[in-house]
Amino acid sequence: MTMASIPFRVAKDPAPTWKDLLRPARNRSGRPEEEWKNRYFFARGRQAVYWALKALSLRPGDAVLVPSFICDSVTAPILSAGCRLAYYRVAKDCSIDFQELERRIQSGARALLVVHFFGFTAPIRECRGLATRYNIPLIEDCAHLPVSVLESDAVDTFGDASIFSLRKSLPLDDGGELALHASYAPLTFDWERETPLQTLKSIWHFVERISQAKRLTRAQKSIAVPRLPRSNSLSGLNPSSETGSKPLESVEDVFMPARAEKPMSFVSRILFSRVDIEYCISRRRANYEFLSAKLGTLKGITLLYPTLPKQACPLFFPLFFESFPNAHLALREKGIPAVTWGGVRPSGLPLSEYPDAAFLYDNLVLLPVHQSLSQWELDAIVEAVTDVRTQHEFEISAVSPKTVSGANASLLAPTVNS
Ligand SMILES: Cc1ncc(COP(=O)(O)O)c(C=O)c1O
Repeated sequence: MTMASIPFRVAKDPAPTWKDLLRPARNRSGRPEEEWKNRYFFARGRQAVYWALKALSLRPGDAVLVPSFICDSVTAPILSAGCRLAYYRVAKDCSIDFQELERRIQSGARALLVVHFFGFTAPIRECRGLATRYNIPLIEDCAHLPVSVLESDAVDTFGDASIFSLRKSLPLDDGGELALHASYAPLTFDWERETPLQTLKSIWHFVERISQAKRLTRAQKSIAVPRLPRSNSLSGLNPSSETGSKPLESVEDVFMPARAEKPMSFVSRILFSRVDIEYCISRRRANYEFLSAKLGTLKGITLLYPTLPKQACPLFFPLFFESFPNAHLALREKGIPAVTWGGVRPSGLPLSEYPDAAFLYDNLVLLPVHQSLSQWELDAIVEAVTDVRTQHEFEISAVSPKTVSGANASLLAPTVNS
């Protein structure tokens, strides 16, 4: 069985429900409309990155500063827009070195992109301050958040443009958003038309995802003791596989300017206006707290974020297995859809200059924490992590570091796989 075809016992993505469709449509966004009236909905967040650059009048050859830990779905649209990539350093705890960032800005960057990694808010005020001081636009990458959790704050803490990948946190097949500050001229689009066949396909996929989730729940309930078998076969389980949870039709994962005007699908728009975002945030937070309590104290495990800030809405549960690069592969063999960013690092990123980013690509394991996880699934994750950690022979000291930047952070020495 190939890695891609291993069925997961735990759902990789949140599933929609019939209730989501039947709920009355809400007025999205707590942002003051007069400041944020230019909002555009695409199939993918990467299209929003591309159009943000256009809206902010960046020209071919302009350098856009992005973090050294970044995925290619951000860098591809920047390069497609004709801009150059410049990187600023992020540390092993995903924090920004502001002195280095300022030096990078001084060397001629024309825009700054800041990511709220995995739903944990970046110090956006400091970034806003730097961008304002050097008179360059700030692009706030909120792809890992369902909404801007900073909405209640003063408008000047936002970026000039904010981008979202709504399909990541919410149970949507597709969806990306660009929110452009009203001080910029509105964009006009020649939107691709959605065909009736595409609409039918996405309705079919919506129904398929609901029934897939039901089958998984039923199969889990039929197992009396939620202990994970060591093999990958668990008869009766028909969980969301890697392919099963993917959208049917989408802009290809390689960004194509020719498809940059593909809108969010009709079905996803309907769902997006009805889905309970507050529920999504509170479930994700509760699941994070549960996993944190169970895994945060395990010897040999270090959490990227040991505490859950008030404004966070976790996209994943990020953690390190000490001295065990690519531990996600062992978890996947146990049916847990763990991932790293190893497969999405941009090809041109000079990793030798950024050892901390290299470390993150190989060692930061991302576990599901989404709103559709059942208690059974949460228990299964805890058990698999404990199992994998125990199986691996750790040579660590009795006292385990609980933060990457803590006194024992050297235990997390970079291990770069070629
Ligand atoms: C930080 C970040 N920004 C933007 C994107 C692009 O979102 P999408 O996959 O919807 O194009 C991603 C996708 O992984 C991302 O991780």
